[in-house]
Amino acid sequence: MIDTSDLKPIKGSMDKIPAIGMGTWRIGGNYAPNYSKDSLWIDALKFGIGYSIEKVGLALIDTAELYGAGHSEELVGKSLRGFSREEVFITTKVKPENLSYNKLVKAAEGSLRRLQTDYIDLYLVHWPNPRIPISETMRAMEKLYNDGLIRYIGVSNFDKELLEEARSYLSVTDIVVNQVKYSLLDRSAEKEIIPYCQKEGIIIMAYTPLERGEVLRLRNVIKLAEKYGKTPAQIALNWLISKPLVVAIPKSENRNHIKENIDTMGWRLSEEDLKILED
Ligand SMILES: NC(=O)c1ccc[n+]([C@@H]2O[C@H](COP(=O)([O-])OP(=O)(O)OC[C@H]3O[C@@H](n4cnc5c(N)ncnc54)[C@H](OP(=O)(O)O)[C@@H]3O)[C@@H](O)[C@H]2O)c1
Repeated sequence: MIDTSDLKPIKGSMDKIPAIGMGTWRIGGNYAPNYSKDSLWIDALKFGIGYSIEKVGLALIDTAELYGAGHSEELVGKSLRGFSREEVFITTKVKPENLSYNKLVKAAEGSLRRLQTDYIDLYLVHWPNPRIPISETMRAMEKLYNDGLIRYIGVSNFDKELLEEARSYLSVTDIVVNQVKYSLLDRSAEKEIIPYCQKEGIIIMAYTPLERGEVLRLRNVIKLAEKYGKTPAQIALNWLISKPLVVAIPKSENRNHIKENIDTMGWRLSEEDLKILED
């Protein structure tokens, strides 16, 4: 049965996205393409997409033109076959060297081709680039939005000041997501950027939410996993998604882990236990 309790609202729209998505860094290579595990990766992505749709009615995937120099996007594109396009919310990112107007438009066309789709659900600026005025980047983003090539605009690794500035250059739409590093072991985003986003209705997409496995070894995480009959990953992720407007995008290429991660949705740690983790 579909449980929509863990879908988080996108500001200014009726759309929502799952609190748990699937990251893809190292799927399809790091900075260069790696084709050695394509069938395993496609199988993992397809499994995750199918399982998330079954569970919450929608799947969220996070990729980037940078990942495997585009091969990650190609694998995501291949994994979409057999699903209806509206059931998968695709996030991809433009790299910092492509933030000028013409390069950004071209980069988006490249991502669309590799993803084999006619629109990107959410297009993020991967990292700021101080050499290119953010006004120019946002102008290009808004052109893609107006042309219907991207449905939503977002950023990643932006601090409050730059996010505010970027928003000021958009006239027909707004930034709806800021993807930042956030986990039990790295809570630096809580100082300024998360409160700002929550106040403004901007979704916080937490990357590296498992600290590549580090959080699974925390004593309180292990203790709570035993108490709830859940896994350490589910405890660490549930703490994140219990927060307003926070979604997390753990990466996994292992079916059991993917299922586990998606099964973080639909239940909650008690207030008391959240506080234990919080402290
Ligand atoms: N915007 C940015 O600048 C930025 C930067 C970094 C990352 N990201 C995005 O965020 C995603 C996630 O971050 P990340 O890949 O750095 O790290 P992560 O998701 O914190 O950790 C990934 C590692 O955890 C393991 N894992 C996943 N689920 C598990 C589970 N249930 N139990 C045990 N181990 C588990 C994975 O191994 P298996 O594959 O074997 O399960 C993998 O080794 C990336 O893939 C990428 O999409 C964005």
